[in-house]
Parts: sequence; structure tokens; C-alpha cells
Amino acid sequence: SSSSASKTCYQDAKYCCQRITPLNHHNKKLTDALEVLEKQADFLGGDNNSSRALAFRKASTALKALPKTVRNMREVENLCDLKGGKHCKRVVQEILEEGFSSEVEDIMNDEWFQTVKIFTGVFGCGAATGRKWFDMKLRSLEDVRRCQDINLTTEQKHGLKFYDDINTPVTRHEADVIQQIVAAEAQQILPGTTVTVTGGFSRGKTTGHDVDLLISHPEEGKEEGLLAQILYALHKKDFLEYTDVQNSSYNEAAIRQVKRNQVMDHFERCFSIFRLPKRLIQDRSELNTDQSTVKLGENTLKMSPKDQANTQRPTLAEEGSGDVEDTTNKTQNQDNSDETGNADDRNVRTQSQDAGLLDSKLTPCVDSEATSLNDGVRDWVARRVDLIITPHSQYAYALMGWIGSRMFNRSIRDYANREMNMTLTSHGLFDKTKNALIPAKTQREIFEHLKLQYREPKERNC
Ligand code: GTP
Ligand code: MN
Ligand code: MN
Repeated sequence: SSSSASKTCYQDAKYCCQRITPLNHHNKKLTDALEVLEKQADFLGGDNNSSRALAFRKASTALKALPKTVRNMREVENLCDLKGGKHCKRVVQEILEEGFSSEVEDIMNDEWFQTVKIFTGVFGCGAATGRKWFDMKLRSLEDVRRCQDINLTTEQKHGLKFYDDINTPVTRHEADVIQQIVAAEAQQILPGTTVTVTGGFSRGKTTGHDVDLLISHPEEGKEEGLLAQILYALHKKDFLEYTDVQNSSYNEAAIRQVKRNQVMDHFERCFSIFRLPKRLIQDRSELNTDQSTVKLGENTLKMSPKDQANTQRPTLAEEGSGDVEDTTNKTQNQDNSDETGNADDRNVRTQSQDAGLLDSKLTPCVDSEATSLNDGVRDWVARRVDLIITPHSQYAYALMGWIGSRMFNRSIRDYANREMNMTLTSHGLFDKTKNALIPAKTQREIFEHLKLQYREPKERNC
């Protein structure tokens, strides 16, 4: 009974990193409404609105952790992230009483809100640019495309050109195909390189707005120069439509002086638009939400019979390849390795083996020179892919940072700072009392350093 008691009580713990926040929760109606208010505040911009956005987000996050559907105001009144928020409370009350919030409906029907939402769907267009375009009397993507008075960035030009593709959710299957394409190239360039799907997919989401790939190598230092080589190899095979490479800006001082709630880290990275050949995804597209069976069929990856015979683990999804911390494989229910520790390390081995199997067996399929000249018959879809390089010594921290969610990171970093006098980033953990960096090999160790109970990635959907 004590364990169930503590279970209900930690769900209203102060920091969301102390709670379990599942992907599918019981209060979607309320959280969707609060997230509209959050989005509106984000679109409006400015310091005051960004604190308002955060307050809406915190309220929504608190509701996601509740073990059942809220029916009555009394059930939420004392949640610490709702207590002070009159606006949040009013909206929640309205929905509980009327079934909907007229304020939220009005926002969703508002031309400004709808237009800025469409504009911010353009890769490279943030809220400020979205507002600016609206103020220039632009009301549609066509208006933006035709407008002579704006200097579109290269990003935005691509964002407009591939708007529909990029705004079609990426499926888990597509993410896995992209991971395998990248892993195959990486493996050929530098055997042992690991390529891990992080971001929303690693938290159990079945779709996402992009694919976040964390790339590393078990030998510290070997990752240097790797990104350029991988990009070159992908480029030669016509997989890349657009790349924006940012060099590593990491130094020891950076982690000590990190600004609180700073999202960007200092890793070498590439924000890209990837050309994903349709023929690599077509045959499986209907199975893409079935995470237990995701694998690359023979139709998509050509392996010689000899390779297949040599292959002990022919697919990424084979039984037992799963891992708790797991970010590439789809074993949400396989928590059996839970107690054995060192899950990150196992994950690393798993992935380098997987990548090794596929080494150079990919048959690039597209005559993309011909097709890129004629978008009408494009046989690939544009997908947003983030490639991030991390040295092995920072891997666990980078993994935690890129698994997210954004709100989870914010909360655990706040917690570290306020409760432990430590600075947590995607590079490491700095103990300000001891004036020392604390290394960690696994995410589990990071939680231990912070005296927090471990939370699985799928429990970090705040
Ligand atoms: P979808 O892509 O929409 O499914 O959601 P997501 O959770 O994957 O979000 P996103 O791809 O934007 O980012 C993935 C995770 O990486 C999030 O938790 C972010 O907080 C984190 N992230 C994004 N950009 C950066 C960055 O520059 N530095 C660090 N450290 N983390 C980042
Ligand atoms: Mn993502
Ligand atoms: Mn991303």
C-alpha cells in the first residue's frame, strides 16, 4: 500500500522530472486547450508572454501526470503548477463545466493565430517572422511565395518549397529507415560508430516533426571530423536536400557558465532536409505504428544471401535487442534489462552491430538528378533530420538532452540548479559546491547523481 500511496503522491511533486509523464494520459481535452494558450503566448512573443507560455505549459504538464481524468475543480486546485494561475484555472473550470472553453475556441478561429501557425510551419520561420509576415498583410503561403518585399533565408526557401512534406508527420518507420541509411554510411566511414534515434520517437511517440540522430563513437576523439564525412557520403548518394552545419562550440568553461534554460548545446550538428526515397518506405507504410515489428524488409535493404546467413541479428527489432534506455529499438515493454545497469553501453553495442550488418548493403535507388529537376515526379519525400555528434564521455548527457522532452529538460535542469546546486546540460553535470564536473556513463547514473528516481524516456513526455 505504501508503494501505491507514494505513486499517487509523487504525481504532484514540484518538478515534472520527479513525476511520471506518459505519452498517453487522461486529460487530453484540458491539456490541448492549455497548449493552445501556450502557443498563442509563444506567437505573441516578448518576455511577459514567454512566462505566460511557460505557466500554461507547466499547468498542462501537471495534468498529464495525473492518474485519472479530472472531473471536478477540487481535484486540481492544489496542484502546485495550477495553484497560482488564475487564467489556467478559469479555462480548466470552463471546460469541466461547459465541455469546452470559448476563449480557446476563439483563439483557434482567429485569423491571426491560424495564419501565424501556418507561417511557423515553414522551416526557418519562427514566431517573430510569422508575425512580421502577417503584419505585411500576407495571409497564405502563396502570398509569402509571391511577395517581392521579403528576403527569404535559404532555410525559408526550402521550408516553403517542401512545406507539405515537412508538415506531414514523420513515422517511426521512416525514422528507422533514415537511421539505418545514416548508420550504414557512418559504419563504412568509421566502424563502431553509433547512430541513435532520440527525440520524441525515443519517448514512444509514433510520429514526429523530425528525426533526431545522435552520433558517437566508443573511442573518445574518433568522432572528430566524422560529421563532414557522413554528410559527404550522404550527399554523394543524393540523400541531402539541404544542410546547415554548426561547428562544435564546446569548451570546459561553457558548462560552468551555462545560462539557465538555454536550449542550444555546443555539439557539432547539422540541421538537414533529407531526401527519403519513397521506395524505401512504401511497402511498410501501413505498419509504421506497430513498433514491435518495425524492421527493414528485403525490399528496402538489399542484403546478399551470404550477408543474411552471417547475420545473427537480421533486424533491429529482434527479440532481446531491446534496451531500457532504448532509443533506436522499439521495445517499450521490454524492461527486463532494467536492473542490470549500464543500459547506455549496451545500447551502444547494439547499434554499432546493427549498423555493421547494414554496412554498404544499401542500394541507393533514386535517379535523383533527374527527379530533382522535376518536382512533379519526385520519388522522394523531404524529411527534417537533425544530426548531432557527441564525444563518448558526454554521451549519456547528450542522450538525455536529446531524448527530451524540452519541458523535461527544463525541469531537471531547474531541479539540479535549485535543489542540488549543480548545472546540468547536454554536455555534463557540474557540481558548483565541489567545483567539479561529474562524469556519467549512463542516464541512470545522472539520475543517481541528482538523487532522483530514474524515469524511462517514455515517462518523460511532459
Ligand atoms: P518532435 O520532433 O516534434 O517529435 O518532438 P521532439 O521532442 O523530438 O522535439 P525536437 O526534435 O525539437 O527536439 C528533440 C529534443 O532535443 C527536445 O527534447 C529538445 O529539448 C532537444 N533539443 C532540441 N534542440 C536542442 C539543442 O539545440 N540542444 C539540446 N541540448 N537539445 C536540443
Ligand atoms: Mn524531434
Ligand atoms: Mn529536432
